[in-house]
Amino acid sequence: MKGRALIPMASQVILLCMLVCFGGVYGTQDEYRLLNDMFANYSNIIRPVERSADPIDVLIGAAIQQIIDMDEKNQVITLNLWMRMQWTDSNLKWNPADYGDTTVLIVPIETIWRPDIVLFTNADSSFNGMMMTSASISHDGIVRWNAPAIYQSTCKIDITYFPFDEQHCSLKFGSWAYHGFQIDLKNRTTSGDISAYIDNGEWTLVGMPVKRNLLFYNCCPEPYPDVEFTVIIRRRALFYFINLLGPCVLISLITVLDFFMPADAGEKVTLGITILLALTVFLLLVAETMPPTSEVVPLIAQYYACTIVLVSLSTVMTVYVLSLHYRLPGTNRVPRGMKKFAFSFLARIMCMGSFLVNMGDDDDENEISQNKSHAGVYENTFLSHQNGIAIMDDSEKKSSEESSVVSKRFESMTHDIMTNLKYIVKKKKDEDAEDDIMTEWKYVAVVFDRLFMWVFLLATTICTLAIICQPKPFTGPNEF
Ligand SMILES: *[C@@H]1O[C@H](CO)[C@@H](O)[C@H](O)[C@H]1NC(C)=O
Ligand SMILES: *[C@@H]1O[C@H](CO)[C@@H](O)[C@H](O)[C@H]1NC(C)=O
Ligand SMILES: *[C@@H]1O[C@H](CO)[C@@H](O)[C@H](O)[C@H]1NC(C)=O
Repeated sequence: MKGRALIPMASQVILLCMLVCFGGVYGTQDEYRLLNDMFANYSNIIRPVERSADPIDVLIGAAIQQIIDMDEKNQVITLNLWMRMQWTDSNLKWNPADYGDTTVLIVPIETIWRPDIVLFTNADSSFNGMMMTSASISHDGIVRWNAPAIYQSTCKIDITYFPFDEQHCSLKFGSWAYHGFQIDLKNRTTSGDISAYIDNGEWTLVGMPVKRNLLFYNCCPEPYPDVEFTVIIRRRALFYFINLLGPCVLISLITVLDFFMPADAGEKVTLGITILLALTVFLLLVAETMPPTSEVVPLIAQYYACTIVLVSLSTVMTVYVLSLHYRLPGTNRVPRGMKKFAFSFLARIMCMGSFLVNMGDDDDENEISQNKSHAGVYENTFLSHQNGIAIMDDSEKKSSEESSVVSKRFESMTHDIMTNLKYIVKKKKDEDAEDDIMTEWKYVAVVFDRLFMWVFLLATTICTLAIICQPKPFTGPNEF
């Protein structure tokens, strides 16, 4: 059963195959004949119009495939585009009925006339953008040529809002040799085709509007049309946020810690200088990614400059605080006005009253009275000692006359001891007073340190907010 069924099936397949093959041969013969007839007297140099005064309409469109590279430093964008061009060649028309209903013929583009479309904004040395693919010709003379191309175009980069920036790269296409009365270049659509676009990690494609320009040059009266594709791309800022802005914010926050560091730790200035160095390294990184322009100062550089200035000022403040803290012995007391300002005003508004409660305005009298009472205690002690010695002297007077000499010597010795003791007490008192003065200066230093911390924090916050919230040139959500 199976063998008998197979034979007719095989014959059917062979018949079908023969039909297809012969049909193909006939079709090929038609096309061959058409090609021969059409290209017998064809020149791909002559502009194919019926009357030489007629312009030839060329429609141009583009589909963006990929943003290959964006070189900010050299201001060059590399794009993969699919160019779509269409024009009517009056020498390539035929009657399909004469050639076995052949309506479309595909020929290499080199064999037919094509407009010399070039990219005016080219930044590539070789200028060979478009690939020489084949074009399709339909029987009414319409030539459609789609060519992939990798273009390097100059793109003026505006880095004002880096890294929250949007770039507009214009690609101008036009005929180099023919003017507007010979080739009338027109846009096929109002916008470039972005349906085949492959996403880029660094840039988001916002749009690709198309515009037709008509230019008149000084040399000639003819218009020169060109079609301008504007590739609008927006930078994805997440990378820069994590790698450049984040560290800067953190580093400037660490500067706040500098004000909390006790002056005796001896690291206050070192920390400030280290932070300055770290910021400079980051600023160098930023500068490396950007074109060396002085036209605008980019947002991020403004931020770094602002932070560096603030950190420098904080170092200056720290040095001032240290100079308050380390007063030499023998320096004056804290001036009354400064004391009043530091303890009554600053300490109060910065809620530092808790540990400065004894350093208020009425301190002076307190201290003096304390001093007096101290001194009193010392003096009383010495007086009572002296009395005791006197009493002892009285009781021993009668016992012997010779002992009076001893007692006199004893008296003089006591006097010496008293003098020395008084000297020691005086010195101790002086030292205490000096210590008091220095402690006071240290407290003043702490208060000023805290004041500078608030000033710095306020300045940093204002600076950061002012730069991050600066009005951007575009609206809509900023995609990272
Ligand atoms: C090509 O030109 C020659 C003479 O210039 C002419 O004899 C011939 O018919 C032309 N062929 C076609 C296909 O027009
Ligand atoms: C060419 O571009 C202009 C401006 O974008 C637009 O007004 C016009 O409609 C476009 N032409 C075609 C055929 O889409
Ligand atoms: C302490 O008291 C002594 C004498 O009683 C006085 O000479 C000295 O100036 C006082 N010191 C202070 C800091 O008031």
